[in-house]
Amino acid sequence: MRALAFLASRFVAGERPQDAVRVGERLKARGINASFDELGEDVHDRAAAARAMRSACALLRMIPEGVERNISIKMSSMGQEISRELCVENVSQILEAARETGGFVRLDMEGSKLTENTISVFHELRKRYDNVGIVLQAYLHRTPDDVKEAVRRKDRVRLCKGAYSEAPEVAIQEMAGIRKAYTACAHELLANGNYPAIATHDEELVADTIAHTRAAGIGPERFEFQMLYGLRPKRWDELVAEGYRMRVYVPFGTHWIPYFYRRLRERRENVMFVLRSLFR
Ligand code: FDA
Repeated sequence: MRALAFLASRFVAGERPQDAVRVGERLKARGINASFDELGEDVHDRAAAARAMRSACALLRMIPEGVERNISIKMSSMGQEISRELCVENVSQILEAARETGGFVRLDMEGSKLTENTISVFHELRKRYDNVGIVLQAYLHRTPDDVKEAVRRKDRVRLCKGAYSEAPEVAIQEMAGIRKAYTACAHELLANGNYPAIATHDEELVADTIAHTRAAGIGPERFEFQMLYGLRPKRWDELVAEGYRMRVYVPFGTHWIPYFYRRLRERRENVMFVLRSLFR
């Protein structure tokens, strides 16, 4: 277990919020912002959801002045699968804490069985809060419509490919198709959206964003790139040096195993990193 924890430490900032905040301070010194995420999903009792809510509020208050108070949360850890009302109440409390501290909260997107509910809870919260954004996954067939709606509502969107196993009826399966869908959604958000986040490590998509925004006269202050802690750290610095805004998603906490496995499943290079470390 210790060895696994050591390997996961490339992708996870540590077990305690202080570990994540320290990483955030180091990133800030390099001109990079962070979004902090306390790992934990699929909470099935009210007490655990309340604990997750309190810990997100405490995290917002703990992030020091000078580091952006930006956190990402998963609705399933806020009681989404227990009751909608409970989830709205918990996330509202976090948004109140974010309001007090000048913070911003991003609602991560999980598997497709939660998509509709997550978007509808988000719409409800948006009536009362500006400091909240959503994630849309380019691989879902529904996403072009969700992007149009987000543009219409001036919602802040993080666009990613999507990390969960989904059926062909729900999501595009092959990479070429996912990239094509990503590009179309990204262009729409970059042209008409509210400060979109282009969240990918895929150089083809990063390069397309740079070329497209230059050609369309969309300034680098109108969007940001986002990548995950541990993936392509040199590219973060290059993008900052080229004048782009960069945010790194910094996960931390004791529930790191599902997150770590998702990173391994995604990319052969990540598995190679783990194997190299094991045989070193
Ligand atoms: P992908 O893994 O598809 O790789 C494609 C290509 O990118 C590779 O062939 C290579 O060229 C290049 N590349 C990738 N990694 C590299 C590396 N380490 N070094 C060099 N080149 C590399 N998902 C979700 O379902 N819900 C969510 O809320 C979020 N949130 C989120 C936030 C942020 C900030 C990010 C970056 C991602 C997410 N995701 C997510 C995860 C996302 O959906 C997706 O699973 C991963 O980002 C992997 O897809 P990519 O497009 O990054 O590259």
